[in-house]
This record gives sequence, C-alpha cells and structure tokens, in this order.
Amino acid sequence: MIITGKYPNLRLRRNRKSEWIRRLVQETNLTVNDLILPIFLTEGINKKIPIKSMPGIYRYSINKLLGILDRAIRRKIPMVALFPYTNPNIKDVLGSEALNENNLVCRAIRYIKKRYKNEIGIMCDVALDPYTSHGHDGILKKRKILNDETIDILVEQALLQAKMGCDVIAPSDMMDGRIKRIRQRLDKENLKDVQIISYAAKYASNFYGPFREAVGSNNVLKGDKKTYQMDFRNCNESLREVSLDIKEGADMVIVKPGMPYLDIIRSVKDNFKIPVIAYQVSGEYSLIKNGIQKKIIHEKSIIESLMSFKRAGANAIITYFADTINLDLFN
Ligand code: PBG
Repeated sequence: MIITGKYPNLRLRRNRKSEWIRRLVQETNLTVNDLILPIFLTEGINKKIPIKSMPGIYRYSINKLLGILDRAIRRKIPMVALFPYTNPNIKDVLGSEALNENNLVCRAIRYIKKRYKNEIGIMCDVALDPYTSHGHDGILKKRKILNDETIDILVEQALLQAKMGCDVIAPSDMMDGRIKRIRQRLDKENLKDVQIISYAAKYASNFYGPFREAVGSNNVLKGDKKTYQMDFRNCNESLREVSLDIKEGADMVIVKPGMPYLDIIRSVKDNFKIPVIAYQVSGEYSLIKNGIQKKIIHEKSIIESLMSFKRAGANAIITYFADTINLDLFN
C-alpha cells in the first residue's frame, strides 16, 4: 500500500483537531457487545470471597450470583464464562468431579438458566484442571498427559454441561482432536445447536498465575503445561491449530492470552473468516488493575487495552473488566 500525499499539503493532524472529527474517522469501536464476563464460583452459601491476586474479583457461591448477573444483564453483556473453585478434598487423579452432574458448574448452569432463561449466554470450559489433584488439564500417567484417554472424559464433561443448559462449550484443554469428538457426541444426543468455541491457540503462558489461584490449582500443579499448550515462540503453528479446530467443527476460536498475542489474533483473522475471541487473561487484568490502584496508569488504560484487541481483528474479548468498565471513559 502506498501512503499518498506530502507535507505541507497533507497534514494528518487536521483529522485529529477536535473530538467530533476524531469520532468521525475512528476505525474501530468498543461496545458492551464485545465483552464476555468470566465468573468464579465457590461452594457454600452467602459467599463472596476476594481473590488476593485479582483485586476487585471474587468467587461467588450460587446464591450470591444474583448481584453480578443482574448487573451483567442490565448492561447487556452477551455472555458469561463460568469457572469453579473446587475444594481440594474432592479432587482426584482423574478429575472425576468433572462428571458429577451435581458439581458446582452444573448447579450454577441450572440456576442461571432457570432464573434468566435466554437473557444471557453461558459458556463453560471443558478441561480437567479444576478437578485434578495434579492440576493438569488431562489424565497424567508416568509424567505424561494422555491425549486420547483424556478426550474420552472431556466428551462426557462437554455433554453433561450441554445437557444442563450450557449454550457454548469451550474446550480449553489443548488435546489433539477433541473438537471433532465433542461435536460428534453432542450431535448424537441431538444437541446440534450447542456451539463450540475452541481455545484453539492457547499458549503455555506465565500470565495465568492469578487464575490458578482463583480456581485453586496453583498449589497443586505439578510441572508445567508445555506438552499440550503452545510454545510462545510460535506463530505459524497457531494457524495449524485453528484450521484443524475449524475442520473439526469449532464455531468460534479463542486466542489466549491477549495483549502479548495481538499478532496471533491478526493472523488468525486474516487467514480464517471465523469469529475470533481474545482472552485478556488474569495476569493481564492484575497488572493493569494494580497499575491503576497504585496510580501508575490511568483507568482509561483499560479501554485502550480492549481497543487493541478490536484493532487486531478480535470480534469479542473475554475480560475480567467486562462488568465494571466505564465505556464512556473514552472521551
Ligand atoms: C484452564 C484454564 C486456564 C485459564 C482458563 N482456562 C488456566 C490454564 O490453562 O492453566 C486461564 C485464564 C486466565 O488466566 O484468566 N484450562
């Protein structure tokens, strides 16, 4: 592309001279329709427990969900993503609690769907890490994560969540071939309208730390997730991951983390015309939030960070700022 024109005939500052013209020539925008709100769940009643490493974010017991859900619905946030904190005493090597139809996530889905019907979408992770005693997303045997054996369980976990009323199934485990098996199983049970949003390009990242505190897998995690999550030195590989997941039946794909991976969002969007969702993960949230609280950066940095995803080509963003962000702060 050639940039035409030459100073002094051309002065790019003219199109920035006041607020109205800046609004007129803006190339991207950010609305509530772009936001997905993650919610952490905990057992018990009347619980709203702060998460230390994520200032302003809490774990809610099911009966305490009303406040945050009412606010999300009033704001017209299109979808929430549910994440359970599992008590250590019910975790085991196989993550059996994932298949318990009365586990925390299943009860929360039933509760939300009963109360709010179709007013807001629900997305749920499919992976075993909240439930395993070793903190991995799959079955661990002789220091290896078993791919196909893990999928056998994930397929059942996805089916269970869908039966409970989950609208969007989100496999975040990075096993090979799981999208196809989950799609087949859902279709076989006539759950053809349940969508699959694949965490297709999910990197083995250092930015997940606070999330692992939130779901209680930080103290138990043995080793790292590098044999299944992607190597952050790679870009082309993300296109292979995405193309496979699309062929297997993914309706949307997630790139995760967010801000350090804007190049990946852009190349996925350029190569595949599919909805791309960015996940601004826990570590990104905490860095920005702490910066604001310590008055190192202004609150407007939140909007700037979210706008970067839109500029990179994301259709929506999973962000812990979704329900508190002031969208008018831009001006
Ligand atoms: C679980 C999962 C993780 C996140 C979302 N789903 C953590 C991990 O893979 O270790 C991270 C989200 C965040 O950091 O906000 N598979």
